[in-house]
Amino acid sequence: MPATIIVGAQWGDEGKGKATDMLADTTDLVVRYQGGNNAGHTVIVGDQVFKLHLIPSGILYPHVTPVIADGVVIDPKVMLEELDGLEARGLDAFARVKGSGNAHLIMPYHRELDLLIERRLGKANLGTTKRGIGPAYADKASRVGLRFQDLFDEKIFRQKLEAALHHKNELLTKIYNRLPMDLEEIAEEYLGYADRLQGLLTDTTEMIHTSLEGGQHIILEGAQGTLLDLDHGTYPFVTSSNPVAGGALTGGGIGPRHVDRVIGITKAYITRVGAGPFPTELFDEVGERMTDIGGEYGTTTGRRRRVGWFDAVLARYANRVNGLTDLFLTKLDVLSEFETLKVATAYRYDGKVYENFPPHQSIFHHAEPVYEEVPGWGSDITEVEDYSDLPVEARDFVDLLEEQAQAPVTWVSIGPKRSQTLVRRDVPLVPGG
Ligand code: IMP
Repeated sequence: MPATIIVGAQWGDEGKGKATDMLADTTDLVVRYQGGNNAGHTVIVGDQVFKLHLIPSGILYPHVTPVIADGVVIDPKVMLEELDGLEARGLDAFARVKGSGNAHLIMPYHRELDLLIERRLGKANLGTTKRGIGPAYADKASRVGLRFQDLFDEKIFRQKLEAALHHKNELLTKIYNRLPMDLEEIAEEYLGYADRLQGLLTDTTEMIHTSLEGGQHIILEGAQGTLLDLDHGTYPFVTSSNPVAGGALTGGGIGPRHVDRVIGITKAYITRVGAGPFPTELFDEVGERMTDIGGEYGTTTGRRRRVGWFDAVLARYANRVNGLTDLFLTKLDVLSEFETLKVATAYRYDGKVYENFPPHQSIFHHAEPVYEEVPGWGSDITEVEDYSDLPVEARDFVDLLEEQAQAPVTWVSIGPKRSQTLVRRDVPLVPGG
């Protein structure tokens, strides 16, 4: 059976956790393909709230195997804390979660360097999550990283750590004026995790392909979003991996012919955490209300998210770079209180109108949104059970987003619970599912 990619179509925090959890009902494997514990996926089941950072959202279904694939960066301490937390809540996380030996490790010096680099950038800092993500991916690209498999071979682990630390300590002491890090201390801590994590180590590529060949269905779950993509996002204000659909193929180790659905998750408005350009950002009372109603505070860092109106230029761009087959629209209910709603359909800069994502960064930095304004619906929609029962203004708004994004809206989420999701087009993820 084919695979489905779930990708953030904005700057992250679109509700991928909820979407993945809901769609995982009819799947067999949920595979995280990039990023690390910079992500924060919130899933609500009944009256229980789960906040996942590294473990794939499919963990909440007993029939799903959650897989952490090659493209992810693993902080083993965080991984253990998350596994322990899930076990404490009655989930057999240690037995079910699988981790690729090729996934890279986030080391203590990565976290330290993330902090120091940001500090050094001063006002020009990126506002990273300070989880060591950038430095870990940089080491991977420089071919000096340590991988998950290295935890289980003490000799190799020590050799690689010694080589890496030699260089990192030069950086820490000579450039950043810090104390050097101690090899023994790190080795003891990390090798100490090995025993408890040994059972997770799996040839995930083999597992994924055996599963596909056996007729099973796979969800490839992205973290962050298209506009935070290292290649296709608003560089340099991006993360250091590839959240786009292409990243699911390299990070998950599967070829394009296996994928038949690419679902873009998008809020009915847009948010961003950290620095970087944001054409539709709201600085007024409307923005404040949107932040409060939407509970727009980071799951990972607790930071207040920046908010703005839906940006259709970016939605079309995300549609193109991911090849979206569906949109999963989230948080429509957050807009219920607003009398009128806006959607940016283009940008204006220096007397010119841009309908597509501008090719030059400085145009995007100074882009002024061209808005279409439409009436709101002014009533609570969180209890609606059938799409056709939404107020006509809400349905018109969804039609407008679909027309502007040029991708079909299949699901509309009207609250955080699994049950608060309306099916707008009946196209099951798995035929017969
Ligand atoms: P990093 O991924 O920690 O290096 O942070 C780089 C940029 O990506 C910063 O602007 C972060 O705020 C942003 N970012 C990273 N992970 C997430 C996420 O899961 N949601 C939203 N923004 C994120």
